[in-house]
Amino acid sequence: MTAENITLEGFDPFDARIQQAPQPYYARMRAEQPVFRVDNGMYVIARYQDCLDALRRPKVFASGFTGPGTPGSTSAADGDPELAAILAEGYPPVATLLVADPPAHTRFRKLVGRAFTPRRVQDLIPEIERLADDLIDGFVEDGRVEIVSQFAVPLPVRLIAHALGVSPDRQDDFKRWSDDSIAAIGARLSRERTLETARGVVEFQQFFATELEDRREHPRDDILSDLVHARIEDPEADEDTTPLTMPEMLSILQQLLVAGNETTTKLIAEACRMLIDNPAATERVRENPRLIPNVVEEALRLATPTQGMFRRVTEDVVVGDVEIPKGSMCVLMYASANRDDAEFDAGDEFDPARSNAKEHLAFGKGIHYCLGASFARAEGAVALDRILTRLPDLRYGPGNEFEYEPSFILRGLKCLDLEFTPGPRRSG
Ligand code: HEM
Repeated sequence: MTAENITLEGFDPFDARIQQAPQPYYARMRAEQPVFRVDNGMYVIARYQDCLDALRRPKVFASGFTGPGTPGSTSAADGDPELAAILAEGYPPVATLLVADPPAHTRFRKLVGRAFTPRRVQDLIPEIERLADDLIDGFVEDGRVEIVSQFAVPLPVRLIAHALGVSPDRQDDFKRWSDDSIAAIGARLSRERTLETARGVVEFQQFFATELEDRREHPRDDILSDLVHARIEDPEADEDTTPLTMPEMLSILQQLLVAGNETTTKLIAEACRMLIDNPAATERVRENPRLIPNVVEEALRLATPTQGMFRRVTEDVVVGDVEIPKGSMCVLMYASANRDDAEFDAGDEFDPARSNAKEHLAFGKGIHYCLGASFARAEGAVALDRILTRLPDLRYGPGNEFEYEPSFILRGLKCLDLEFTPGPRRSG
């Protein structure tokens, strides 16, 4: 489907069918209605420059709001006693990082930023290589793989478990908790599934509360210890300098779990598609592996695993020539901005040598810029390097339907069957 033969009338971003191929809709928006009002009153901001301007004005385009269904919140249960009983077993919801505004956000950023130092990312690279090679060892002799479940899901799950300092044997729980945490984002859930996700999130909270208490007494070199012991030692600081509370730490961990898993999974699977669909470009990358970091940027730009982020406008504001009234919800549509020809020449094309690929908004920009961006970049680069080296001649297996998860915020393939000629054994 192309931008010419679709209509924006009645466009519903939550429509799972649209999410199978949303780009023609976004292209149409950029061309004709770059600030598009959805029937439910939400505004989709589709052009690069408009998204960037909004990201530079976090006071006007605020992040501080919470959705229903958060654990511990009986009001979130909306009169459903069964849901209320489940949530009451958890910790109260608090708005941190992603859903906080300054000054609270500034405090969180300072406290959590210490866990994401360049040294920690550097130290993780050998572990990423080991995890990637272990996973490939598991299927390389078969000459085929379902890359989502056999590689793209377990790699980030194992890495985040390692970085948090939690035993790898909890990785199945990790994935389930992560799925439960995001189930309601950008999708509609049945009541059954709502109850199930609430149970999963409460279980996650109880598990990590115990682990955090353990680190209080027995600190290690891991993110959990950094969170428990994080302090702002600046007597001149204007903002609140108190250490993180348990509900705050749990909220932050939930964000790390989700952000560290779902997005990177989607990036890796989509990058494989791009390599297969662009054999000439892939050949250039094989000949010059120094292009790999740029391939990661191009994959981030074109796939944009976090398709967009919500903002609430705190005053009447004009974007383009559209007036957005105070209190309205907006979506900064990063997936659309990232293909805007005004910023990226031939924005739909995969070009591993694109000089401004890194200008994409796949990690956002400004005060909420992705805290794990260097984690994700390192993970993406190692994954692609191992895939290109050990799975040469990568091609699609038979019967792929290229079906995407039905979420318009976290977009990714459900599965992807690949075939290859087994390449060299692992290095080192
Ligand atoms: C391909 C991988 C990833 C993508 C595409 C991605 C995308 C994003 C985006 C778009 C934002 C900004 C949201 C906004 O504009 O409001 C963000 C924020 C964030 N990301 Fe990532 N992310 C990725 C990986 C990670 C990883 C691996 C971690 C941690 C281990 C992480 C942790 C966070 C956190 C904590 C925030 C909130 C920052 C704040 O609000 O101050 N992300 N991410």
